[in-house]
Amino acid sequence: MEVLIGTADIHRRVGELGRQIGRDHPEGTPILVGVLSGCIFFLADLMRAVPIPHEIDFVSVSSYGTSSKSSGAPRLIKDVDRDIAERDVVLVEDIVDSGHTLAFLRETFLARRPRSLRIATLIDKRGRRERAVPIDYVGFEIPDRFIVGYGLDYAERYRHLPYIAAISPAELNDEPATHSTGTV
Ligand code: IMP
Ligand code: MG
Repeated sequence: MEVLIGTADIHRRVGELGRQIGRDHPEGTPILVGVLSGCIFFLADLMRAVPIPHEIDFVSVSSYGTSSKSSGAPRLIKDVDRDIAERDVVLVEDIVDSGHTLAFLRETFLARRPRSLRIATLIDKRGRRERAVPIDYVGFEIPDRFIVGYGLDYAERYRHLPYIAAISPAELNDEPATHSTGTV
């Protein structure tokens, strides 16, 4: 494994994003909606950096595919607990890859008529996009590498790492051959 983004760099950037989210919501109180489970570190640090009153909620989206490639057919398996109509919402994702997950979530949420809907992602793998999706807050743009740590997993492993590391293709070859259903 190779460290791509160190702990200090992550915290500095998340601090910047948090202050930007604060500036963009002068009439507050936005709801930060984390996409489980990869969002947990990012959301927890972001909350401490957003200098205005805000609420949090969570969604969980199913993915079907091998653990290093997400599929194109996401489905909501846990919804938010509150009505988001007329609210300011910020979706908080760990990583945008093909864009299918966020495009699906964006359509689902826009149909509920929030006052505003913005999207934050810690990591953007822009080169892999299959569906265009507007992103308001990007922590880091990275090339096409499979990464783990700071909430991101490979087959549910490595989420606990306090930095972001790339896994080599050789390490990815250990991937289980059978497809499994999980969450993003
Ligand atoms: P998308 O729908 O292709 O944009 O996929 C988004 C989801 O795929 C993320 O929420 C992650 O769960 C997963 N994913 C994509 N790339 C990576 C990666 O490099 N490391 C870990 N998970 C990833
Ligand atoms: Mg994942």
